Amino acid sequence: MEVKIFNLERDHHDIKGKLVQCFEEVLSEGEYVLGKEVKALEEEFAAYIGVKYAVGVNSGTDAIKIGGLSTGLKSGDKIVTTPNTYISTAMGLSVYGMRPVFCDIELETYNMDPGHLADVLKREKDVKLCIPVHLYGHPCRMDEILDTCEKYRVKVMEDACQAHGAMYKEKKVGSLGDVSAFSFYPTKNLGCYGDGGIIVTDSDKIYAKAVMLRTYGQEAKHVHVTEGFNSRLDELQAALLRVKFKTLNYWNERRRHIAWLYRRELEETPLVLPFEAPWAYHVYHLYVVRTKDRDELRKYLNEKHVSTLIHYPTPIHLQKVYKHLGYKKGSFPKAEEVTNEIISLPMYPSLKQDEVLYVCRCIREFFGK
Ligand SMILES: Cc1ncc(COP(=O)(O)O)c(C=O)c1O
Repeated sequence: MEVKIFNLERDHHDIKGKLVQCFEEVLSEGEYVLGKEVKALEEEFAAYIGVKYAVGVNSGTDAIKIGGLSTGLKSGDKIVTTPNTYISTAMGLSVYGMRPVFCDIELETYNMDPGHLADVLKREKDVKLCIPVHLYGHPCRMDEILDTCEKYRVKVMEDACQAHGAMYKEKKVGSLGDVSAFSFYPTKNLGCYGDGGIIVTDSDKIYAKAVMLRTYGQEAKHVHVTEGFNSRLDELQAALLRVKFKTLNYWNERRRHIAWLYRRELEETPLVLPFEAPWAYHVYHLYVVRTKDRDELRKYLNEKHVSTLIHYPTPIHLQKVYKHLGYKKGSFPKAEEVTNEIISLPMYPSLKQDEVLYVCRCIREFFGK
C-alpha cells in the first residue's frame, strides 16, 4: 500500500462537478478581479470567523504583510513570534524593515509560551506586534497572550494560516486578536487552486488600511494616498473557495476522526502524540508526533511507501537569513528540541481508515510492538 502525505485530487473528488461548473460560470461572467465572488467570500468568511471584516489577498504571506502593516507598524519596529513556524510569519514583515524577536514554545501544543512572552516583552523595547501562530491547527493560549500584550501595549495579529475553523474556548481563532491572517495555499484546511489568503478584523481602521494597501494604496480609483501593493484575490479562486467552504466543517470533523483513529492505534507506542487542550477545538491541519528515533522512523516509513514530512526542519532563528539578529543554538531550547523529534504523518479529509491502520501498523512494527 502507498500512503501519500497529501492527496488533493482525492479530497476534491466529490465536489469536482461543482468546481468545474463554478469555473465555467466565472469564465462566462467576464469579471476576474475583485468582483462579486471576492466580496461574497469576504462576507461569508468574516461571518464564519465572527468578525466584522475580511479582505481577500493573494497569499497568507501577504495577509501577514498587509495585516501587520495595517496595524501601523513602521520600519524598525519589533515583532515577536515563535521560531518553529513557517518562515513567512516573520519574513512577511521583516522584508519591510520590522525586526523579528522570538519567544519559546510550550512542549504540549508547540505554540507560544505566554510565560516566556512576558519575559521577552519585559526585556525588549519597541515590540509593537505579537504574532501567535495556531500551529498545526491547535489554538494558542489567547487569554494569557492578550493580557500580556495589553500590559505592554503590543497589538496582536493571529497567524491562523493553519487553523481555519479551530476554536479557542467558544470563539473561532482569527476573532481574538486585533487582526488575523489566513492562507488559502492548496494543502490548507481551506485551500484554493494556486495562492490566496485573507485578513480578518473587527477594526474599522485596520480594515480601511488593509483595503488600501491591497490595491496600490488607493483611497478611490486613481487616488493614491499611501504606497501599497497589488495583492488581490482572483474572482476564480474566490468562487472555487466558496464551493469548498461549504465542506470545511465536515472536512475538519474528518480530520478529527482520523486523529482519533491515530491516537487509538498509537497510544501504546513510545511516540508523543498531539495534545488537545480541554478548551480547544483542534482542526489537525497536520498530525505531528514526536520521537527521538525520528530519522530512523521516517526512513522505515519511506521504505513502506508511507510519505511523511517535517514541519519545520530548521527553527527560524537559526536560518541564515536571520543570522544578523544574533540568536544562537540554545537560544530557544524547547523549539530546538522538538525540531529534531517531530514528524508529520499523512493527514487529509479523504485519508481512508485502512490507510491510517496501515501507517499505524508500520509504526508499531518499527517500535517492535
Ligand atoms: C503558519 C503559516 N504562516 C504563514 C504561511 C504563509 O502562507 P502562504 O503560503 O499562503 O503565503 C503559512 C503557509 O504556508 C503557514 O503555514
